[in-house]
Amino acid sequence: MKVKILLIGFGNVGKGFSSLLIEKKEMIRERFGIDPLIVGICTRSSGNIYDPSGIDLKRVLELKGENNFLSTPGISDRLTSVSADEIVNSGDFDVLAECTITEMGGKGSALSYIRSALTRGKSVITTNKGPIAFFYKDLQLLAETNGARLLFEGTVMAGTPLFSTSLLGLSGSSISGFEGVLNGTCNFILDLLQNGEEFEKALKQAQQRGYAEADPSMDIEGIDTALKAMILSQVLMNSPVPDIGAIEIKGISDLDPACLNRAREKNERIRLIAKGERMNGDSRISVKPTPLSPDHPLYYLPGAVNGIVLSSDVLGSICLTGAGAGSRETGFALLQDLLSLWGDNFRFSSSAFSSK
Ligand SMILES: NC(=O)c1ccc[n+]([C@@H]2O[C@H](COP(=O)([O-])OP(=O)(O)OC[C@H]3O[C@@H](n4cnc5c(N)ncnc54)[C@H](OP(=O)(O)O)[C@@H]3O)[C@@H](O)[C@H]2O)c1
Repeated sequence: MKVKILLIGFGNVGKGFSSLLIEKKEMIRERFGIDPLIVGICTRSSGNIYDPSGIDLKRVLELKGENNFLSTPGISDRLTSVSADEIVNSGDFDVLAECTITEMGGKGSALSYIRSALTRGKSVITTNKGPIAFFYKDLQLLAETNGARLLFEGTVMAGTPLFSTSLLGLSGSSISGFEGVLNGTCNFILDLLQNGEEFEKALKQAQQRGYAEADPSMDIEGIDTALKAMILSQVLMNSPVPDIGAIEIKGISDLDPACLNRAREKNERIRLIAKGERMNGDSRISVKPTPLSPDHPLYYLPGAVNGIVLSSDVLGSICLTGAGAGSRETGFALLQDLLSLWGDNFRFSSSAFSSK
């Protein structure tokens, strides 16, 4: 069965997802019986291509490095003057894969793309934190009303299967809290600071490795982590956070050196911890640098790795660690979400984890 995908955003994540669709084409067909077909790619500055019979994804990826790559011969015949909004509103596709930039407040183009697709009964998979952090309940309701689904594995911990593990595997239990290291840039910088590096030099190294953005303030001021905590509170604890202002947020840009020294003396490690606790239907969320002793599950998280400890009423603490960013790693989150939409065949198949 052909599954037509409209891809909005073709940066790191869009590219990673596309490469995986090519790499895993045969396995997806064999195990899931589906043939994913990208029918449109929309960007902010390179234009939009659209063809309901499918786009040559390999060719698009080859040309991606070039300026105005969508205008290059070989794919330029698919270039359209139709806007991304119009393609979402009237195009022929089954799933919207949304991976544009995160805007503070969650409003803007991404929210409008997601709303339009769900209103048409098209399922949406997204890695964009903004719309989910600020409009999760509204969007879920819209999806349900229109017989569509909204999946967002990549919004927290990239492709590390946090939501699929907890929503499926822990569905018979109740989650009352979480503690997470959810921003790889901060974790990487904190490791360097604790080894005696200066903040500016540590930040530069994070940027050189491609972990931190040119404008790193969302990461180092704790905002990115707070958005992820808002998502966790709503999705895992069914406890909406009224606004980001309700979260106690302290980043890592002005860490007191005395605090680092104290931690070092006690053999502790400072991590930027997002903590959530559910109390009488409300949640209390904080994001702050926190010293952890070696017996804490999040103590040993090297470099840019992310980790989370969930408190479940049945199983106690459950710890999950893994990638928190990266083109391929986050592209994999979109692939997981896509396959979840067709997942029932897969879950009960004995060959689900075959060697392919
Ligand atoms: N990268 C990661 O490791 C990672 C991890 C987890 C979550 N995420 C989230 O995933 C999303 C994508 O991340 P990314 O790293 O791929 O970002 P990116 O490299 O900056 O790519 C963003 C893409 O979105 C396009 N775009 C921006 N605004 C648009 C609009 N209004 N309409 C259509 N296209 C638009 C951009 O077009 P142009 O190419 O023309 O600029 C670009 O192709 C973000 O929300 C990010 O927070 C990323």
